[in-house]
Amino acid sequence: MKSFGSSEHQIICGDAIAILSDSIPPASVDLIFIDPPYNIGKKFQKNKARWTSNEAYLTWCYRWLTLAVEKLNPHGSLYLMSATQYMPYLDLYLRDKLTIRSRIVWHYDSSGVQAKKYFGSLYEPILWAVKDRNNYTFNAEDILVEARTGAVRKLIDYRKAIPTPYNSKKVPGNVWYFPRVRYRMPEYEKHPTQKPEALLERIIKASSNPGDVVLDIFAGSFTTAAVAQKLGRKSISIEWEEEYVKIGLKRLGIGGKN
Ligand SMILES: C[S@@+](CC[C@H](N)C(=O)[O-])C[C@H]1O[C@@H](n2cnc3c(N)ncnc32)[C@H](O)[C@@H]1O
Repeated sequence: MKSFGSSEHQIICGDAIAILSDSIPPASVDLIFIDPPYNIGKKFQKNKARWTSNEAYLTWCYRWLTLAVEKLNPHGSLYLMSATQYMPYLDLYLRDKLTIRSRIVWHYDSSGVQAKKYFGSLYEPILWAVKDRNNYTFNAEDILVEARTGAVRKLIDYRKAIPTPYNSKKVPGNVWYFPRVRYRMPEYEKHPTQKPEALLERIIKASSNPGDVVLDIFAGSFTTAAVAQKLGRKSISIEWEEEYVKIGLKRLGIGGKN
């Protein structure tokens, strides 16, 4: 296991389950973002992410999910991405341990493969869960989007005691449109499943405060850590591929030590 960075932004190179077990104290993290290999055949450098059965894959997922929940502080939030095929199982597993606050759909412009004989996939599901349903961070004011209904048509809401113009801003619903990261976009890194900064920006702004600790247990191209740094949060990132750790070091502007 190699570790890089500072107390503000730490990168740990190694296996997620081993590092969660040995190196992250319980109840020490404010926000956890998890974007695991989906077991749908994507190749990640030297480690091919494939399990021999659905059961084997889910058993592996349940192991890191259980550990991640332990690391969350009493008012923390956890965001979990997964393939549409597996999310129902992970949802059932997680709802026994945390309160699911939202089931989010990340919708994007076009699928990697142009389907001709079926409906191409244009979304990925995200679960947002909290440890304490009565006390968790949600910075609604920091993530408002334009309201496309009444305000645009300059309508007045006559249901109110004093008729008032419709709000022009609102908290986003649970279908989020963000384009996928493509080659030549300024944020592009050489990673097969890089997530957009805009997606992580909404999550981190909504569910953490400046100075909070954000943990990403499958860092990939280190989008979570890069956005956490821009937003004044601390970060801990786990990734076992050294090539991707190099991307993280570059994105976070940190030098390495063993
Ligand atoms: C879906 S990608 C994450 C992408 C990331 N969210 C981003 O925006 O770039 C999953 C990552 O987990 C890493 N990974 C897979 N199994 C791992 C393990 N057991 N321990 C640590 N990292 C692992 C892979 O190398 C891959 O980079």
